[in-house]
Amino acid sequence: MMISKIAVVGAGTMGHGIAEVAALSGFEVALIDISWDFLNKAKERISESLNKLAERKQISDAKAVLDRISFNTSYDIAKDADFAIEAVPEKLELKRTVFRTLDTVMPSHAVLATNTSSIPISDIAEATNRKEKVIGMHFFNPPVIMKLVEVIPSKYTNRETIDLTIDLAKKMNKIPVSLKYEIPGFVSNRIFIRLLQEACREVESGEAKIEEVDSTARNKLKLPMGLFELADYVGLDVVVDIWNVLVVRGTPDVNCLMFKTKVNEKNLGVKTGKGFYTYPAPGKYAKV
Ligand code: 3HC
Repeated sequence: MMISKIAVVGAGTMGHGIAEVAALSGFEVALIDISWDFLNKAKERISESLNKLAERKQISDAKAVLDRISFNTSYDIAKDADFAIEAVPEKLELKRTVFRTLDTVMPSHAVLATNTSSIPISDIAEATNRKEKVIGMHFFNPPVIMKLVEVIPSKYTNRETIDLTIDLAKKMNKIPVSLKYEIPGFVSNRIFIRLLQEACREVESGEAKIEEVDSTARNKLKLPMGLFELADYVGLDVVVDIWNVLVVRGTPDVNCLMFKTKVNEKNLGVKTGKGFYTYPAPGKYAKV
């Protein structure tokens, strides 16, 4: 099957970046969200990012890339798409509603992928009448820079859908890691949440300060960001959602409340301008 048009549902942190990556790879893109406010913001962010790439001479024509993306609050623009990538918040019922709609609107040959970080793909697939064509395609933030894409089959996904998704990831200039099963947290978030659990435990027990843990992550583990900084970057609400799903699905918990407390205080990290660190403005990341 040839893919020429990709629908992306959800224009937030991940969705706008995935739409940008798809357009950069030459695909026609339909970006859908529930409000024009979100869509206009996404257009602004994509435009800023494309201008950066053009300044660095990585692309020659930012406008031509942007012109490949259509924006709309209606799913009508997805009706001739061959592949969909859903990137709405990590709530199962919301995702199932999106998939039911995509299943109704999109052609029967189309594959429906979810960018979920932790929800079982099978639970989402069961909302459709094409369970064998539903798959996980998990990007990392910022999608335009991060190379990794996890490809996760559900218990229903057929081989053709897996191969098509791996091939699409390669066409998007990404490095796919193809999982055998939908293990909780897939490969990356199992490691990420365990690192955060230990980081949190060390700080809450007074063994180390946040800045010391982050310095260790950067200067010993050679991660590009400290662990608390990365959690801020991902969004502390997203971290807590993934953490909770992993614990419900059997990962041992640790006695640590820092992340939940920040979320209760509505300090969600970069997106609100404050998390474990303070940023120049909501949504504006600067190295800590
Ligand atoms: N578009 C275009 N260019 C961008 C960009 C974007 N969205 N974001 C960063 N850049 C560019 C910058 O402009 C800069 O370009 P320059 O060198 O020409 O100035 C270059 O990339 C490097 O960026 P910065 O100078 O801001 O800073 P860094 O060198 O620290 O890179 C980073 C920033 C790429 C975000 C790096 O810190 C990093 O890789 N951090 C780790 C990110 C990570 O691990 N993400 C995964 C999170 S987990 C996840 O998403 C999964 C989910 O399930 C939780």
